[in-house]
Amino acid sequence: MKSQTVVVIGSAWGDEGKGKITNYFSDKADVVVRYAGGDNAGHTIVFNNRTFALHLVPSGIFNPEVKNIIGNGTVVNPEHLLNEIKYLESEGFLCKNLYISDRASVLFDYHMELDGLKEIALGNKNIGTTKKGIGPCYRDKIARDAIRMGDFVSSDFKEKYFEAVKEKNMEISLYGGEPIDFEESYKKYQGIADLIRPYVADSISLINEEYNKGSKILFEGAQGTMLDIDFGTYPFVTSSNPTSGGAATGSGLGITKIKEIVGVTKSYATRVGSGPFPTEMLNEEENIGIDIRNRAHEFGATTKRARRIGWFDSVIMRYSCDVNGFTGLSLMLLDILSGLDKIKICDYYLIDGKKVFYPSARVEDFAKSIPHYIELDGWKEDITNVKSFEELPINAQKYILKIEEILGVPVIMFSVGPDKEQTIIRKEIF
Ligand code: IMO
Ligand code: MG
Repeated sequence: MKSQTVVVIGSAWGDEGKGKITNYFSDKADVVVRYAGGDNAGHTIVFNNRTFALHLVPSGIFNPEVKNIIGNGTVVNPEHLLNEIKYLESEGFLCKNLYISDRASVLFDYHMELDGLKEIALGNKNIGTTKKGIGPCYRDKIARDAIRMGDFVSSDFKEKYFEAVKEKNMEISLYGGEPIDFEESYKKYQGIADLIRPYVADSISLINEEYNKGSKILFEGAQGTMLDIDFGTYPFVTSSNPTSGGAATGSGLGITKIKEIVGVTKSYATRVGSGPFPTEMLNEEENIGIDIRNRAHEFGATTKRARRIGWFDSVIMRYSCDVNGFTGLSLMLLDILSGLDKIKICDYYLIDGKKVFYPSARVEDFAKSIPHYIELDGWKEDITNVKSFEELPINAQKYILKIEEILGVPVIMFSVGPDKEQTIIRKEIF
């Protein structure tokens, strides 16, 4: 049976290929919602043989019929959003169906400045953030200091912004940074607010009206499960809840109405930025990792940094399946594994000689995880033209079946190349 709502979530550290899967579902959706994060996300969408990198605008924007909501759970840099809108419109994609929640937090220049200053102050203990101001903006939200979209486009914005700049300048000066000039900055943001105002809406009533009408709703996850503020490799995480609970709290659609939760995972593992990564290909395996990085073009869409490469990690995936309640998995980039003699899957870790099936809470313990692997035979065939599971080489089929067996969640789709047609569906859910 097909469902009315689906959430697409990165199952590990982001960059799993969520954009492609989101795009696949958004073709069927009436509404696409971003519920967490901000423009730290970089969602690569291939559309009509062209590649677009979206950061804040939901990826339903390429279809003029789709309503795109930037939900209350997000943090929105209005200047960057405006640039993205201008860019999309200059490419012929009108943004008239874009709705920004009046409850979303506004991300200002001082958030970005503080993000950068804090990273410098942390030295080699830094988080490796995208320096987009995400952490400082969510901090304001939780501390009840945020200026929200509704405030930003209202007549009392000036007073609120004055107080905020006064306070932030004290903090900036503690770090030895450059204070914000209020008048100049206010003028800039006032102009931006005028241009953003038409998009600001009561997203909660909108999404519920759409749901009640029977519209199909896609929740576009950003970041990934291991970057979640609660469930990730804290403190090497982002400052929001990209996991499935965030789809409800970040959009205003009640949790009982959210049905399908698809975990997007690569056929191997990647991570950008600092922090432990147990299955990373190092030493004698480093060349396999470099080869995968080059063939799969594993460089960040937002920061261009080279991604670290590792083997499929069932410890992370088991945990991810549990905290998200995945109803299906989408296994990406299977074609990249073609040609390897042996393919490894980590089934558990050893920490101080003890078997561990779940990642440790403390990053210091997690860093001690030594992966235990099972080894499967690889396949040599090019699989980029395969159209069904049955057409896959038997060893590729075995690889998928092994993952399903370990995790107990069905692989409902898999991908054998960047094109839309290279996404093979095993079960239609939406
Ligand atoms: P998408 O949605 C991969 C990572 C950063 C850093 C940590 C904290 O494109 O998959 P932040 O700027 O959020 O405070 O940085 O989170 N990070 C991502 N990594 N993909 C993303 O987004 C990410 N967004 C944040 O690299 O380690
Ligand atoms: Mg990304």
